[in-house]
Amino acid sequence: MAETILEMKKIKKHFPGVLALNEVDFDLRKGEVHVLIGENGAGKSTLIKILSGVYKVDGGEIFIDGKKRTITCPNDAKTLGIGVIYQELSLLPLLTVGENLFLGQLPHKPHTFAVDWKRVYGESQQFLDKLGLPINSRETVKGMGIGRQQMIEVVKVLASNARIIIMDEPTSSLSDREIERLFSMIQMLKGKGISIIYISHRLNELWKIGDRVTVLKDGCLVKTIDDIDGITSDELVSLMVGRKFEDSFARADNYCDRNIETLRVENLTRDRVFENISLVAHKGEIVGIAGLVGAGRTEVVSAIFGVDRCDGGKVFVNGEQIAIKSPKDAIKYGIGLVPEDRKEKGLVLRMSVKDNVTLASLEQFMDKLGLVVNFVQERKKVQSFIDDLRIKTPGINQVVVNLSGGNQQKVAIAKWLCSHVHILIMDEPTRGIDVGAKEEVYQLMNELVKNGATIIMISSELPEILRMSDRIYVLHEGKVTGELSRAEATEEKIMHLAWNS
Ligand SMILES: Nc1ncnc2c1ncn2[C@@H]1O[C@H](COP(=O)(O)OP(=O)(O)OP(=O)(O)O)[C@@H](O)[C@H]1O
Ligand SMILES: [Mg+2]
Repeated sequence: MAETILEMKKIKKHFPGVLALNEVDFDLRKGEVHVLIGENGAGKSTLIKILSGVYKVDGGEIFIDGKKRTITCPNDAKTLGIGVIYQELSLLPLLTVGENLFLGQLPHKPHTFAVDWKRVYGESQQFLDKLGLPINSRETVKGMGIGRQQMIEVVKVLASNARIIIMDEPTSSLSDREIERLFSMIQMLKGKGISIIYISHRLNELWKIGDRVTVLKDGCLVKTIDDIDGITSDELVSLMVGRKFEDSFARADNYCDRNIETLRVENLTRDRVFENISLVAHKGEIVGIAGLVGAGRTEVVSAIFGVDRCDGGKVFVNGEQIAIKSPKDAIKYGIGLVPEDRKEKGLVLRMSVKDNVTLASLEQFMDKLGLVVNFVQERKKVQSFIDDLRIKTPGINQVVVNLSGGNQQKVAIAKWLCSHVHILIMDEPTRGIDVGAKEEVYQLMNELVKNGATIIMISSELPEILRMSDRIYVLHEGKVTGELSRAEATEEKIMHLAWNS
């Protein structure tokens, strides 16, 4: 068995009202991928933030190479060879790959202040070549796909001599091909004796790249499993959620009324982004929008919602042509959008859970004159979403910024579920959300269409598209390449249209 390079013992971390980690043990061996899983709010990010010096521990010990260490700031972690790949990429887009790799430590020519560019690009290129990456060190980062940028992040961490690399949900915004590339990069790193802590909500990834898996729940260690081939995903899920779990809730009924068209988009165009997009949606229908990352799906719905301008095309709501110049107009016409990037665009992070949830629908809790808010009713409604979506928070007044990533997503979804929009656009609705809560989101979507709403759902997860959609549009490079009914749709057909091959 490979030697243990990292041991975390009885790690404890409190936040006001929350015991985020309760005496958790975790260890890492040389050259392994140790996967960390658990529901939203289980404590995964907190554990790695302690290791990377972002949070200070309240109790417990950390050993590296058998020596007890204290990590009080990110620099301590770096010195100890611990590197982190954050979900939000940190590269500076206008700089070249080489500049990004040497950021903050550009070498100077001897006895001058002039930067030694030859060395910057030479050494960067050597590094990239050694790792077998087809990337030019003089290329600017801007315009590179997220997948390549993420590789450069990994290279950057390696360049600082990291032996332990932490990846917190690295695949959540990558396309399938990019994920494959990241996985082969991980294999290569393992071969070089580098150890990886890998957090993901996508259980299937576990068997592709994991060596061991640790399950956290409510801040406690549930189990570390050495033999991952000996465990099924059902068993893992019940370890995570602590209850028997019924997956594959199928969409029971079709609530779609083909006679009532709620949304029609004709020839919507934005120069160089998307072209002649036409689509329709009906009362009670869930319309899926599939395609690769970068196909223009998010751009199309942002244009419909009035976030981005359009250069041409028409939008009709309930048969009437309308002009949407801003999200305010969209909301007035009963359209809501749960954006892909919920943290930036969907939430006011400094406000409470309650205020975020009712932000778009406060009028429903007002008296007839619109003067007084019925706080009791408001609280009750918000609490019902916290229960239904199992939002982990010490209370409805907690500020959203203190919630875990997945729980923030749930709040953004609750906000629109709470408002009575009749057309709801959801961009990657279950990204970053744990398996248990996914089902709740699907149930709530189902209820919305049952009550006559229309849902437009963008998703990169084909099983989700196939399971939830009544009809599917597929986009490729800013154009609609196909439309499939629920009956016709298969993974193969969608992939075929998405690659336009
Ligand atoms: N800065 C903070 N202040 C207060 N509470 C916090 C803070 N950071 C995390 N928490 C709480 O600690 C708990 C664990 O959060 P953590 O972010 O570690 O969860 P996670 O397992 O990474 O979840 P996810 O899958 O949603 O990312 C949550 O209840 C969260 O609300
Ligand atoms: Mg997290």
